[in-house]
Amino acid sequence: MKGLEQKRIILGVTGGIAAYKSAELVRRLMEQGADVQVVMTTAACEFITPLTFQALSGHPVRCESFDTSSEAAMSHIELARWADAVLVAPCSANTLAKIAGGIADNLLTTLILATDAPLLLAPAMNQQMWAQSTTAENVNSLAVKGIKILGPDIGEQACGDLGAGRMLEPDQLVDALIQSFQHLAFAGQRILITAGPTREAIDPVRFLSNRSSGKMGYALARAAREAGAAVTLISGPSVLATPAGIDVISVETAAEMHSAVMAHISKAGIFIGCAAVADYRLAEPASEKLKKQADSIQLTLVKNADILAEVAALPNPPFTVGFAAETSHLIENAREKLQRKHLNLIAANQVGDNQGFDQDDNELTVIWQDGQVELPSSSKNQLAKKLLEIIAQHYFQKSQPENNEKHPT
Ligand code: CTP
Repeated sequence: MKGLEQKRIILGVTGGIAAYKSAELVRRLMEQGADVQVVMTTAACEFITPLTFQALSGHPVRCESFDTSSEAAMSHIELARWADAVLVAPCSANTLAKIAGGIADNLLTTLILATDAPLLLAPAMNQQMWAQSTTAENVNSLAVKGIKILGPDIGEQACGDLGAGRMLEPDQLVDALIQSFQHLAFAGQRILITAGPTREAIDPVRFLSNRSSGKMGYALARAAREAGAAVTLISGPSVLATPAGIDVISVETAAEMHSAVMAHISKAGIFIGCAAVADYRLAEPASEKLKKQADSIQLTLVKNADILAEVAALPNPPFTVGFAAETSHLIENAREKLQRKHLNLIAANQVGDNQGFDQDDNELTVIWQDGQVELPSSSKNQLAKKLLEIIAQHYFQKSQPENNEKHPT
């Protein structure tokens, strides 16, 4: 099988002398079975004609955002949804900066903002421009978001300079693209994740909540997205930025989280309950602000639904992963929750004494029916990646072949 069979690739071409190599790149991508549509910036059209790309790709080439005839054939939003991956080669310093800053001022940058497909950039620029700290900052912020930066190569440049800034060769770019698809463990899978705390109203100005920041759940959502999954994140109140390419549903109470999960669960092949859901809510929150009169007051609390247990008890449950935050008897308590809630996996973490909640680092023990593995202390981003690897091992082992067919995206 060819490396890019049935893969739909948008090739973005920006203004730079390396644009001539992109014609060869289209040929190489198509040799690997890809369906390629080319989107050019106006500056790119100064270096190579759209007609060249049209002849090679067999598709009309798009340059302008508001070309009504092209929009009628396939709007830029449809184009953004059509793509399995977007490769920008060559990617100029200008376009790189715009993507890093979320600017959408031409068709290419607009569709990059509108797509949830993986994005790969092959920078090509003068070595001095590549060495600038602003370019380095842009590259770092893109890499943190999971955008792949391919190259640049070091060598002699068209301007006569010697240094880093040459676009990688078409063959190297095609190999990188093929690899990026192979590494996507969750390509074609839908994952539903809960994150953060919930808030249960006492009166219009006060609530009961907990110390969860949402960091672990957001890290999991980003890692799942990077691993190719379509991710829906149902988040309680959190100050964290909405991760790119993830469908985020914001909720406040446990009841709202419960409804949002139940509304989306049928499409998910995997559910990860990472939220610190309040176990209880007020039986009757006051409709007016409580006044400070009595020396003591009593709040009557009633139990909230256990979202995780309900998901695992569905007639056709997804692969269900829970978390257990414990202050003592970590493994015992987590194993008991795994059994009681009929989970596939549970990630146990010690909390209290400045551990767990709202920290950037953590350690987990991942437990299943007949085994467990320790994930030693590291950043929540690293832990999220490792936990997803373990989920992938168990999920694909358990679900072959029917689950993959049951939950296509
Ligand atoms: N959970 C949930 N809904 C709830 C309570 C918890 O989905 N109403 C999920 C959490 O997202 C987590 C797991 O259940 O994945 C464990 O939560 P935890 O509070 O540790 O366990 P509880 O079952 O509430 O048990 P306890 O509070 O007695 O330790």
